[in-house]
Amino acid sequence: MSEPALWGLRRKLLDALDKVGLARPAVGAYELALAAKANLAERRSSAAAGLPVPPARLRAQVGPAHADAAFFLRTGRTQADLIRSLVREGGSSVEDLEAILDFGCGCGRVLRHWGELPRTRVFGCDIDPRMVQWCDANLPFAVVSVNDLAPPLPYADSAFDLVYAFSVFTHLSVQLQHAWMRDCLRVLRPDGWLLMSTLGEHYLSLKRLTESEEQAFRRGEVVVLYQHSAGSSLCSAYHPPDYVRERLGADFELVTFRPAADEGRHDLHLFRKPAMSRAGTEQSL
Ligand SMILES: C[S@@+](CC[C@H](N)C(=O)[O-])C[C@H]1O[C@@H](n2cnc3c(N)ncnc32)[C@H](O)[C@@H]1O
Repeated sequence: MSEPALWGLRRKLLDALDKVGLARPAVGAYELALAAKANLAERRSSAAAGLPVPPARLRAQVGPAHADAAFFLRTGRTQADLIRSLVREGGSSVEDLEAILDFGCGCGRVLRHWGELPRTRVFGCDIDPRMVQWCDANLPFAVVSVNDLAPPLPYADSAFDLVYAFSVFTHLSVQLQHAWMRDCLRVLRPDGWLLMSTLGEHYLSLKRLTESEEQAFRRGEVVVLYQHSAGSSLCSAYHPPDYVRERLGADFELVTFRPAADEGRHDLHLFRKPAMSRAGTEQSL
């Protein structure tokens, strides 16, 4: 069966389960099954060298494909390299940044790759305490905190040179997305970078949306499925790139847009906080 056909079936099932309040438990059970399968496979393979690998249960929650430890490690490394090259293209280097934040860090897929930065202070945050506990116990170079589903973050204004959010705005309601953009602006220093990923045209080509949802996307609207489960993997948001640039990123300068750029085929948007932005400067004066 093709991926769009499979997705169509999955969607019908989730919609039916959602009507009786069972969609979230069903997604949880699916993630547990993926984790059990991965645990069996890992018992047969040798442990990864270097930092500990998070348990399959946490990896599966970050995304079904990440139940596979090798995929989790490889894509995390690729994303970290991508961040490096984007910052380099912007005329700086990650080594020169004073503080960076992985917003919605999960179990440290990308965060784990900053352990060798000589002087940059590395932070992560997530709404899921189990993710944060794992990072806190296993990634000693990072300061990791739990935050609430809605802003603010537990950081001072202008605290970071770079905030990145992979697959986080893809799981938020429209209202939360806008609120979090404002808070990211606040915690960034003027000229600071914001890198975020969204689901765009590539996911439409997989027939993830119904006809009417696809029409809304084509009209330039962000489409959010299961908004009531914002923050969980059940909720998924699909963003027309123009919406991200013109509406979500209205208070930022867009530096680079890369459609379907990473291995998960997410669109990547690199923004910069304007040098003259007042956000995040008033209270800190
Ligand atoms: C798909 S996972 C991605 C994790 C990580 N960024 C990565 O790429 O491996 C989404 C993560 O965002 C977290 N999350 C969702 N809403 C959040 C919010 N409002 N603030 C912080 N983290 C959030 C979830 O708990 C989850 O760990």
